[in-house]
Amino acid sequence: MSDDILKVLLNEEQIEKRCIELAEQIESDYEKLHAVPIVVGLLKGSVPFMAELIKRFTFDCEIDFMSVSSYDGTESIGDVRIEKDMDISCRGRHILVVEDIVDTGRTLREVKQMFMNKGATDVKIVSLLDKPERRVVDIKADYVGYTVPNEFVVGYGLDYNQKYRNLPFIGILKPEIYE
Ligand code: XMP
Ligand code: MG
Repeated sequence: MSDDILKVLLNEEQIEKRCIELAEQIESDYEKLHAVPIVVGLLKGSVPFMAELIKRFTFDCEIDFMSVSSYDGTESIGDVRIEKDMDISCRGRHILVVEDIVDTGRTLREVKQMFMNKGATDVKIVSLLDKPERRVVDIKADYVGYTVPNEFVVGYGLDYNQKYRNLPFIGILKPEIYE
């Protein structure tokens, strides 16, 4: 599996270190708001990142997951469908969406709009990675772990055809794997 990786971009230590910083920042922001947010992980890519973040939160929050599909292979098609909805109602609640990567931005735009339509009070986004060169819609995550170049990356939750999610680092996938 590691043979398919061209280059390691971020190792486990770097990711953990950044998660500690992000968790502190997020905690301080929600404390100022006096809000008990619902932390909503987008399955499946956010799982390792979400686990790394929420274990550092010492404030009251609720945890939920959602599965949306917009992506097939390496291209986002921009049409977001809910595959698995949240269990907790988001009406009148502060929502913190946890995502693995913001690429074109289409997924998060749709997800954010959906939460607002369902009556959420506020929607914030935390994404482990940001690939700004690929953005086609005007959306920014409120909190970003690392900015990555315009390469297809896998590991730490991110997959190519469901593979590589379990790698403990973020690496660039060899183009011959998906070309
Ligand atoms: P959009 O384009 O809607 O897409 O912002 C976000 C989703 O696309 C997936 N994605 C990737 N997955 N390596 C991956 O493993 C990548 O380089 C990559 N770029 C985008 C990801 O599922 C994200 O939630
Ligand atoms: Mg995703």
